[in-house]
Amino acid sequence: MSSDSTQPSEAVIGVHWKEEDYFTPPASFVKQAYWNDPSVFERFSERNFPQCFDEYADLLTWSKRWDKTLDSSNPPFFKWFVGGQLNASYNCVDRHLKEHRNKVAYYFVPEEPDEPTVTLSYQQLYRRVNEVAAMLRDFCGLKRGDRVTLHLPMTLDLPITMLACARLGVIHSQVFSGFSGKAAGDRVTDSQSRILITADGYHRGGHLIDHKEKADIAVAEAAKQGQKVDKVIVWRRHAGQYASQHPMVKGRDFFADEVLKDYAGQEVEPVMVDSTDTLFLMYTSGTTGKPKGAQHSVGGYLAYVAGTTKYIQDLHPTDVYWCMADIGWITGHSYIVYGPLALCATSVLYEGTPTYPDASRPWRIAEEYGVNIFHTSPTAVRALRRVDDKLPLKFKHHFKHMTTVGEPIEPESWRWYHDVIGKGEAVIVDTWWQTENGGFMCSTVPGLHKMKPGSAGPGLPGIFPAILDDHNEELKPGSGVAGNLCIRNPWPGRMLTVWGNDKRFVDTYYAPICRDLKSKDWRDWPYLAGDGAMIAADGYLRVLGRIDDVINVAGHRLGTKEIESACMTVPEVAEAAVVSVPDKIKGVLPEVYCSLRPGVAADEAMAKRISNAVVEDIGAIARPRRVWMVPDMPKTRSGKIMRRVLAAISAGKDPGDVTTLANGEVVEHIRQQVQGK
Ligand code: WT7
Repeated sequence: MSSDSTQPSEAVIGVHWKEEDYFTPPASFVKQAYWNDPSVFERFSERNFPQCFDEYADLLTWSKRWDKTLDSSNPPFFKWFVGGQLNASYNCVDRHLKEHRNKVAYYFVPEEPDEPTVTLSYQQLYRRVNEVAAMLRDFCGLKRGDRVTLHLPMTLDLPITMLACARLGVIHSQVFSGFSGKAAGDRVTDSQSRILITADGYHRGGHLIDHKEKADIAVAEAAKQGQKVDKVIVWRRHAGQYASQHPMVKGRDFFADEVLKDYAGQEVEPVMVDSTDTLFLMYTSGTTGKPKGAQHSVGGYLAYVAGTTKYIQDLHPTDVYWCMADIGWITGHSYIVYGPLALCATSVLYEGTPTYPDASRPWRIAEEYGVNIFHTSPTAVRALRRVDDKLPLKFKHHFKHMTTVGEPIEPESWRWYHDVIGKGEAVIVDTWWQTENGGFMCSTVPGLHKMKPGSAGPGLPGIFPAILDDHNEELKPGSGVAGNLCIRNPWPGRMLTVWGNDKRFVDTYYAPICRDLKSKDWRDWPYLAGDGAMIAADGYLRVLGRIDDVINVAGHRLGTKEIESACMTVPEVAEAAVVSVPDKIKGVLPEVYCSLRPGVAADEAMAKRISNAVVEDIGAIARPRRVWMVPDMPKTRSGKIMRRVLAAISAGKDPGDVTTLANGEVVEHIRQQVQGK
């Protein structure tokens, strides 16, 4: 862990926080909650680990039951439900048909308010998944263990394609649709996908966005990196129309709806796979430039998301559930697709932005479909609050349960979420977890714990977090000191490894805090989350944020190095440094500092080119708030760029003592440039 001795330690930051008052879950909620009897804590105590997780696996249907709950003989490559066999698409679709085939799986709500909602029953889902599976198998030649890259927006085609892959034991790797063609190409290469599945366009913020263009870029990028894409399958947003300006490439690109005509009504036997087979890859940013493919298992992952959806989301058969995340992120995989479908739930799938055509959209949707469980991020809460902080009160929706996820929520925003969006009627869970984790890790159990604004709860039943100091010693809960958040035990939802890079997996998440790299005892192998956090006396976790070079924008991780490399693709840029600056809506935003090659004019056009390079390389989510072109970067004597100094300047703060820098004088120059005299 790189620690900068001039930086105030996490501990100093921690002690400034004041403890918040508890909120009690409404009695009406507690009465109906699945987990409202404290005996669950005993069942999931350390004494009953790992067998306690059989309770989650028993929510699924297995073609062959597992012999061993946890095989920990080769840490940290833990295996769950070993010997068991199952199929994820069977568990999410087929097994519900007998009793619930007419139940609604999804209400697909298009962004344009005039476009009718598509209601998809489990029976219809079954039919569509089967036809697509037949196409993937017979037209695309995909089979168990192959990877396929999806670059799909928020329409029904996305979960259907995922489930069709799962039906065949094919590993899907969905790339968030907002990511660039280049980013998709990188992921095609890393996962060695021969098939790319994309869409012609989608509606977002009132525009029909041309998406197919990105597929052309992705295929070219992958080819450049040595990965050939044989076929591009294109879902069309509107039947019989083509939303893209970019022509289909003959012999390579195919419209899904046209190919599917040959597979109408076909059924595909679900391929039963091992519990430890891979269900999907989800790429996420890390400290070094290249995103890591978090490789998630079929059995452990599916059991974990089914269990946490049932008990932490408290999702009952009669509920209507809406998670406003995008399926392109892990939240959507776990809590829009696999968790809810495994439980035969009814969900809303919304295509667009929450504030289109105006900020009342979420409440109109919630009213219309009777949504009673609502799941979103602090960023969305802040954005909705800013538009009109009374608006939700004017609508008739009633939530029993609300979730926040993705970044720390300030107590102020939490209380507004509770009082105004939830009208004081809903229980709230602040769920801390990561792409690598598969599902919720820390949260209150909604029917058993009091809530505390700004704090995620304690570890979930069966999850044992701890905070380590710089010497890897455990800090006592309530010590008021922050440190490195880790999880002491293995759990079923955890990724199997980093795709194609076991070493990186060990080096990133285990080696820095492992007690003995030769040990075969899981107790010596805690998982390092990469977050700074505190644990209060009540065991509740308060997350400070990432301790690595990762910026969490609107609840999603972006590597600072990735953004810096993107800036460096502009040949005139000599050096680039990215810092995060606080933002009222998004939590933080990246801000770029660049020094230019001699003789290059630092004008608006150059700033725009640098900003565009970031958007092209990574996607609009990484767009810098500002690009500052500075004469030189502040550096230590050993030549390290002092991002901390730049971050302080961006935040409007005093850059502090810079006398030890190699070029301290440049700091005042930059400060005046950014903050004014
Ligand atoms: C990082 C993981 C997994 C959901 C989507 C984000 C931050 C996540 C919380 C929370 C404070 C949170 C952490 C974590 N984070 N949830 N409830 N409170 N911080 O997944 O992109 O893998 O990012 O998001 O910093 O490490 P991700």
